[in-house]
Amino acid sequence: MQREYFQEIFNNVLSAMILINNKGEITYINREFSRLFGYSPDESIGKPLSDLISPQGNEKEITENIERVKKGEQVLKEVVRQGKNGELIELVVIGSPIIIKDKHVASSIVFSDMTERKENQIKLEKANKELKEATSKLIHTERISALGELTSSIAHELNQPLNNMKIVCQDILRDVAKDRLEVETIPESIEDMEEQINKMARIIDHMRIFTRRLDSNMNMEKININDPIKNMFLLIGEQLKTKNIDTVKNLNEELPRVWGSSIGLEQIFTNILINARHALEEKECKNKKIEIESFINGENEVSVSIKNNGGLIPLDIKERIFEPFFTTKEPGKGTGLGLSISKKIIEEHSGRIEIEDEGQWTKFIITLPALTGNEVK
Ligand SMILES: Nc1ncnc2c1ncn2[C@@H]1O[C@H](COP(=O)(O)OP(=O)(O)O)[C@@H](O)[C@H]1O
Ligand SMILES: [Mg+2]
Repeated sequence: MQREYFQEIFNNVLSAMILINNKGEITYINREFSRLFGYSPDESIGKPLSDLISPQGNEKEITENIERVKKGEQVLKEVVRQGKNGELIELVVIGSPIIIKDKHVASSIVFSDMTERKENQIKLEKANKELKEATSKLIHTERISALGELTSSIAHELNQPLNNMKIVCQDILRDVAKDRLEVETIPESIEDMEEQINKMARIIDHMRIFTRRLDSNMNMEKININDPIKNMFLLIGEQLKTKNIDTVKNLNEELPRVWGSSIGLEQIFTNILINARHALEEKECKNKKIEIESFINGENEVSVSIKNNGGLIPLDIKERIFEPFFTTKEPGKGTGLGLSISKKIIEEHSGRIEIEDEGQWTKFIITLPALTGNEVK
C-alpha cells in the first residue's frame, strides 16, 4: 500500500526520477524518466544507470557520480545524457543519498530537462532582437518623414550658395566680355566659390548622416549638446525664415559635455522644432517666435529648451502626446511617432523630456546628465 502510494506521488512529479540500490542497480523509475529517456520499467529495473543513458565513453563519469552519492555526498551537475533513440539531452542532475538510521540505503537521482528551458531562452532572445530591430526601423522611418518635411528647407539652404556662385560666375563672364578681367582677382573669385561649394557639401553630407540607420546602441560618445542643435540648423534654418517665424538661438558655449548620440539628439530637436513650426502655422498670430536655449541645469545636468508662442496644448491632448501614433495632424503631416520616439531616445541617454506652460508659450525641455570627466565609459 505504502509503496503504491509513493509510486503515485513520484509518477506525478514533473522531473524524471530514479532510485538506485547499494549495488548500483536501478530499483525504481518514474513515468517522466520513461518519457524522457524512452526506457520502460522492464528495460531499466535491475540495470546499472550507466548501461542505459551514457553517451559513448561517458560510463565512467556516471559511475563515479553514483559512488560519490553512495559516500553521502549530494551531487549537482549540468550534464549531457543519451536517450534510447540516441538523442542527446541536456540536463541538470541531482543525486542525493537516502540515509536511514545512519545507514546509506539507496540513492535518488532527479533529472531536470534543460532543452526546453534553453529553447525558451532562445525564443526570448529572438523576440528581444526583433523588438530592437523594429524600434530601430521606426526611429528611422520617423527620421525619413522628418526629412520629407525638411526637403523644401534643404532646397532653400542649397539655393543660397548656388545663387552666390552664380553671381561670381556672371561677374567673371561680364568682365571677360568687356575685356577688363584682372587676372589677379581670379584666385579670390575661385576661393569664394570654393567656400560656397564647401557649404553645400556640408549640408549634403549632413543630410546623408541624418538618414543613415541608427544602430540600436546609437553611437554614443562624448559630445557638446550644442552640436546637434547647430547641425539641425544646417538643414532647417532658412525654412523658418520663409514661414515668418522668428527664431532665437541662445546657446551657452561653456556647457559641460554629455554622453550621447549626436544624430539621436538632433532627431529629437528636429521633431520638437517642426512641431513648434506646425503649431505656429495654425495660428493667425503676429510675432511668431521659436526660442532655443541650452543651459546648465543645477550642478550636474545640461538642458535644451525649445519653446514657441503658438499657445498652450489643451490638457486632454497634452496627456497623450507621448503615446505612439497619437497625432492631431492630418495624414501626411504627422505620424504621431515623433514624441514617443524622442522619449525613447532620451531614456536611452538616461535623461528626461518635460513640457511646461509659460504664459502663451509651450516649452519642451530635454535634460541629460552632464559628464564630470571622471566617468569610465
Ligand atoms: N509645440 C506644440 N504645440 C502644440 N501641440 C503640440 C506641440 N508639440 C506636439 N504637439 C502635439 O503632440 C502631438 C504629437 O506629436 P508627435 O509625437 O511629434 O507626432 P506628430 O508631430 O507626427 O503629430 C501633435 O500631433 C500635436 O497635437
Ligand atoms: Mg512631430
